[in-house]
Amino acid sequence: MIRFNKTIFTLPVLVAALSSCGGPGSEEPVVLNPEAVAAGKVLVASGRDSVIACVGCHGANGEGNTELGYPRLAGLHPKYIEKQLHDFKRDPLRMGVSIEPIARDYSKTPRIYKDLTVYSPGTRHDAAMNAIAKEMTNEEVINVANYYGSLAFEATPVPNDFQSLERGLELAVRGKPEYMMPRCDACHGPRGEGFGEHFPPLAGQPIKYIVSQLNKWQNGKRDNDHLSMMKNTANLLTDADKILIAKYYANQSFKVNK
Ligand code: HEC
Ligand code: HEC
Repeated sequence: MIRFNKTIFTLPVLVAALSSCGGPGSEEPVVLNPEAVAAGKVLVASGRDSVIACVGCHGANGEGNTELGYPRLAGLHPKYIEKQLHDFKRDPLRMGVSIEPIARDYSKTPRIYKDLTVYSPGTRHDAAMNAIAKEMTNEEVINVANYYGSLAFEATPVPNDFQSLERGLELAVRGKPEYMMPRCDACHGPRGEGFGEHFPPLAGQPIKYIVSQLNKWQNGKRDNDHLSMMKNTANLLTDADKILIAKYYANQSFKVNK
């Protein structure tokens, strides 16, 4: 618990330190390399040998796949994309301790999940993406990151009932102070539009994807966040919370590079 409290109290310092700039509103424009964008475009559309073309899953314009829960990549910060591909690439077995996640009963809510699981720090587990990322060269990683960073995106808000949206909003802008859980918008931006290279957008991501990532932080299959700030947050969400928050962000209108 001591470690968790520290994370909360140092949050503003942390956000300022992790971001490349002073604070919301003063965000620096993303600088892209045109040659990398062009090379990335080719790999994304056609793939290479054992690197499967990205378009099949992430969509023709990087919009993702709502039905299957594949994330949107269009307009994400290139540095964030690079980091994720390296986290998928990293060999889980050589990263120290790897223990089966502890089974937990999420039906008894609300409760605090005291998480002692150590999986493979610094890694993300997904069969498809682990296999694809491992085949990519560092240059290819930079190229696809630049290409996706250059794409425009506009979200179509997914309707939801008022009561559910209210509860989702509460989690987003208030968090759960009674459990020391920070609000999502403190890191992900006022409308979940993301902030800088470290804090990805939640708006415009498939509901299924948001829920799956929150589950992965809880069961240890995603363990790549600085200072476990997402893990500590996710561990305080119930199954119902995860759906409410995902649907709240899916309801936001949002555009980037347009
Ligand atoms: C077979 C389907 C499939 C293909 C092909 C595919 N991806 Fe993915 N990608 C996924 C899935 C599923 C996830 C979510 C993984 C998870 O749950 O951690 C993902 C996640 C990602 C992420 C993390 C996004 C985020 O918001 O954190 C990046 C970056 C990414 N893929 C890049 C690529 C690139 C670049 C290619 C092409 C070279 C590619 N993917 C090809 C299915 C695919
Ligand atoms: C203390 C800062 C912080 C807070 C508060 C926070 N997040 Fe995050 N979140 C992060 C960081 C940092 C990442 C990226 C981690 C990485 O490098 O992969 C992230 C990533 C995510 C992702 C994955 C996005 C993607 O594209 O893969 C989801 C989903 C997410 N957060 C949901 C939430 C929700 C829901 C809340 C509120 C209940 C929340 N976060 C609160 C810092 C935070």
